[in-house]
This record gives sequence, structure tokens and C-alpha cells, in this order.
Amino acid sequence: MNNFKFWSPTEFIFGRNTVNRVGQLIKKWGGTKVLVHYGGQSAVKSGLLADIEKCLQNDFIEYVKLGGVQPNPLDTLVYKGIDLCRNENVNFILAVGGGSVIDSAKAIAAGVPYAGDFWNFFDRTVTINKALPVATVLTIPAAGSEGSDSMVITKTKGGLKRGAGSSQLRPVFSILDPSLTFTLPANQTANGIADMMAHVMERYFSQTPAVELTDRLCEAILLAIIKEAPVVLREPDNYDARANIMWAGTVAHNGLCGVGREEDWATHGLEHELSALYDVPHGAGLSVMFPAWMQYVYTSGIDRFVQFATRVWGVEPADAKKDTALKGIKALKDFFSSLGLPVNFEQLGAKSADIDKLIATLKINSGDQFGAFRKLDMRDARTIYEIAAKG
Ligand code: NZQ
Ligand code: ZN
Repeated sequence: MNNFKFWSPTEFIFGRNTVNRVGQLIKKWGGTKVLVHYGGQSAVKSGLLADIEKCLQNDFIEYVKLGGVQPNPLDTLVYKGIDLCRNENVNFILAVGGGSVIDSAKAIAAGVPYAGDFWNFFDRTVTINKALPVATVLTIPAAGSEGSDSMVITKTKGGLKRGAGSSQLRPVFSILDPSLTFTLPANQTANGIADMMAHVMERYFSQTPAVELTDRLCEAILLAIIKEAPVVLREPDNYDARANIMWAGTVAHNGLCGVGREEDWATHGLEHELSALYDVPHGAGLSVMFPAWMQYVYTSGIDRFVQFATRVWGVEPADAKKDTALKGIKALKDFFSSLGLPVNFEQLGAKSADIDKLIATLKINSGDQFGAFRKLDMRDARTIYEIAAKG
């Protein structure tokens, strides 16, 4: 096991009706003038936004609102949010929504105290060492941004989708009420499930030896998701199943599963090019890319793939390790299919004719080499996209 530092300071408030505590929590964390940031329409339609406004008014907390964050959030709204916060002397940001809203909120939070262009954080010419406090009311378990130190934004000009991170970006508190996720359509629920599984697997597929505890934590999270995913799709208002999925999404990405081990993240890099080019949901893109990446790299660490197949999918070990490993990969792919997720380019709405475009932006974003389980170059990436295209 490698040396590590683990710092995950977010205060998580989990359960039914916990949204009522939002005003009290904002006060506790020093907010006096709040930007309430939200997405397209789900939080308005469900009445959640109105409930939050009522809480803030009851607690005499001043606020301004900025909605309209779209999935795969854009830099243009971030600039707008930064201007709004400066003009209104906002000192606290409340994100009401999923990963897209939370990431947009984080970018605004980092951009407000910074005199230059906030995109400098994403082209990595400047590090983030100051940000307004961000808190979240999570409405879709998926990205794990409610507990993570990172954010992903797309630059409208050139369509570059990039991540940036800082410990300053960990939300101060996150409210997780599983009943807020009852309204999620099946496809969004499934996209979220693929993303949280991917967050575990990006950490699980590591060459670092002697990481039994984190291996077991990863496997436990995957097993819980595999058990509860069909239940939430069948019974969207099953509170306990939604609760397990919601917490799985958070622990999949707050860093706990990756301590002491080298993480991979090649598949996220490959996927971000798909969601940037086609504006497809991140989770759907991962459902296509993860099995393809696995098929390409499994020989670089076959014992790990055998472990994945046997411990996570209950595959009976075959005589040849290769057969066991491939059965595990197939089980993952079949599972994604059973949730209605895409497993090839056509189902995703992507085209193999665009692989050159994907490679061009991947090279800009990920450099000549990326990934850790197996170091990949652009030739490898091309083959993985070709495998993904066929499914
Ligand atoms: O915009 P509204 O109307 O709210 O609709 C949203 C959106 O269309 C809808 N939705 C959310 N909660 C709902 C709901 N619909 C009905 N009922 C509810 N309760 O769901 C749609 C998707 O929302 P979005 O926030 O885009 O989903 P997600 O949480 O999957 O976030 C995706 C973004 O997060 C990034 C992704 O790249 C992508 O841009 N990621 C962020 C990470 C991080 N910051 O740590 C890590 C991830 O790997 C990921 O890259
Ligand atoms: Zn992800």
C-alpha cells in the first residue's frame, strides 16, 4: 500500500426532509448572502427550489438565484455567475441539482476571488488556493461532486471538456435526501449508476499491490449497486433502494476507495471527449467506454480482472485466467445493457467516422500518455474507441 493523505471534510446530512435544515446549515458555515444555483427545470417542477427559498426566507438569509445549468455545464454560465456574485456581494454558493450544477457552482466559487480568467484553472496555468464556500442539495446520485474536490466544465469555444480540482472545492455540507431522487427518469438513474460504478473501477483497476482493504471497499460498493440498481429502476420511489444508491454514489468518489493505491482514470479521459463532442450524458458514455477499455488492457493485469470477475460477478474460475477475466467484462457489459444503457457507439449516438476528432481533443486534454493501470498513447486510444464503436 502506498502512503496517502485522506481529507474529506464535507458534512453530509442524509435522510428525508433534511432540506429543511438548509438555512441553519448555511448560517453555521458562515453564509450571509447566497447564490442559489440550479439546472434546467427539475428542481423548479418538483417544488424543491420553492421549499429552499422558503427556508432561506424563514432564516432571514439573503439570496440571489441563477438557474439554467445544462448537463455537461458550460463556461458561459460560469462567467455569468461570477459577475452576479461579485455585483451582489455573494459569500456562499448553494448548488441544487446534480454534478453539472455542483461543478458549475464550484467553478463560480473559485472564479469569484480570482482576478484573472477562471479558465486558467482548467488549462492548469493557475492553481486554486481560494474559493467561496460551496454547499449542495443533491438531486441525482451520479458524479459524486457533492463530496469530491473536482469539477468538470466545457469551454464553449472549441468544445473542450476539462477537469480541475482543489481541496478548496470540497463542499462544506451536502444534503442528501433520497426521496428527492424519486422523480429521476430511468435513463438518468441508469446514467448515474454507470458513473458511480466507473468511479469505483477507476480506482479498483490499479497495479498497486497489498490494497486488500480498499479492494474490499470497492467490491462492497459495486455489489451494493448491482443489487439495488434493478430495484430503483423497477420501483423508482423505493426509499431504501434509492438511499443505498445515493450513498454509494458519494462514497464511490469522495476519495476513500482510492487511498494508498494508484488510480487509473483513462476511461474518464476517453469518455469526456464523447460527451464534449456529442453532448451525451457522461454516464452513458462511460457505459460504452469502460468495457472497451477493459477488453484492451486486461492482459496487463489479468489477476485483477480474475478477482473482479469472481468477487464482483460471481464468475466460476475457468481453467484459463483469460476466460474468467473475459466473463467478468461481459458480465459488466450485460449489466449495463440490462439497465437500458448503451454499450456501443450506435446506441450512444456516436460515429466511428469521428474517431479522428475524438483523438485530436483527447491529445490536447490528456497529453501523449494517460492512464496508469496500463499507460496508453493515442494509438492505444484509437483502438479502444474502435472496440467501443463495435461494442
Ligand atoms: O437540469 P435539470 O432539469 O435539473 O435536469 C437534470 C439533468 O437533465 C436531471 N435531474 C437531476 N436531478 C433530477 C433530475 N431530473 C428529475 N428529477 C431529479 N431529481 O438529470 C439530468 C442530469 O443532471 P447532471 O447534473 O448533468 O448529472 P450528473 O450528476 O451525472 O452530472 C454530470 C456532470 O458531472 C461531471 C460530468 O462530466 C458531467 O459534466 N462529473 C463531475 C465529477 C466531479 N465533479 O467530481 C466527476 C464525474 O466523473 C463527472 O465527470
Ligand atoms: Zn464520472
